[in-house]
Amino acid sequence: MLVTGATGRIGRVVIDQLLHAGVPVRALTRRTEAGATLPAKVEVFTGDLAAPETLDPALNGAGPVFLVWTAPPQTAAAVVERLAAHVQRVVFLSSPHRTPHPFFRQPNPMAVLHADIERLIAATGLESTIIRPGMLASNSLAWWAPAIQTGEVVRWPHGAAETAPVDDRDIAAVAARALYQDGHVGADYVLTGPESLTQAAQVDAIADALGRQIAFEEITPDEFRRLSEGMVPSSVVDMLLAAWSAAVGRPAYITAAVADILGTAPRTFRQWAADHATVFTEGSQPSATSR
Ligand SMILES: NC(=O)c1ccc[n+]([C@@H]2O[C@H](COP(=O)([O-])OP(=O)(O)OC[C@H]3O[C@@H](n4cnc5c(N)ncnc54)[C@H](OP(=O)(O)O)[C@@H]3O)[C@@H](O)[C@H]2O)c1
Repeated sequence: MLVTGATGRIGRVVIDQLLHAGVPVRALTRRTEAGATLPAKVEVFTGDLAAPETLDPALNGAGPVFLVWTAPPQTAAAVVERLAAHVQRVVFLSSPHRTPHPFFRQPNPMAVLHADIERLIAATGLESTIIRPGMLASNSLAWWAPAIQTGEVVRWPHGAAETAPVDDRDIAAVAARALYQDGHVGADYVLTGPESLTQAAQVDAIADALGRQIAFEEITPDEFRRLSEGMVPSSVVDMLLAAWSAAVGRPAYITAAVADILGTAPRTFRQWAADHATVFTEGSQPSATSR
């Protein structure tokens, strides 16, 4: 199996899951030095989705591929063509852009790219499984850990917006099953966490995990735009603000897919926060066992 996005949040855990299942794993990274951070049993290949010809060594003789697309869109068609020339099956990490909930129906350039890649995959005749996680629980590390680590107030827009954060470990476990188990070809899985929680309630859950209070202050979208300047592309800020705004006053969309596929309940956001508490106190990365 070849895992792309192997050094990323989800790919890294997919690798752990595949190794745990006894499956030989290849990993793709653009950075030779990053290979040293992956488990020793993994066969590491250097390659770049933005330069499709660099993928050939990793694809030659590979089994199913876990495709994570974080590169610019220009080379997507050439990469999918190369995948089809070398392998039979792909598991694609997409997003719930077809789900009829207002949160997922806002303007979103990443969702447009995901839809394009899905069309490319379908056109090749590759066997495919599409995995569509909603909001990742781990987004809160980038969003709130800096303020929480320094004891500052979490200043955030649309505090009442409800989402159902899904644990990266559950997404990775589903992806790994789709790669090494039969019965997932043609499947399309929307993955969510088990509970609809406002953003303010998610910060409260982190506070409970830390055993202390965290002050939350609602700010306006324009204040958020100003605070994000130079750190987050404005297109991403606009995408998030539109999605959160549409999610105020209505419960988040929740599916049973994680439980149906894994046979265990999806992890709650409280569980995720408890397992990552040290990151909010010390800024350290979660240990392998907490992943
Ligand atoms: N955040 C959310 O709530 C959410 C929800 C639904 C879907 N998603 C989707 O999840 C995906 C991101 O997954 P993630 O969070 O696990 O990734 P991540 O932690 O952001 O890591 C990005 C990965 O992509 C690799 N990468 C970046 N550019 C590359 C290139 N040009 N060629 C080859 N590899 C490249 C990086 O590897 P190297 O640096 O080692 O090369 C790294 O492993 C995106 O498609 C996103 O739209 C996110």
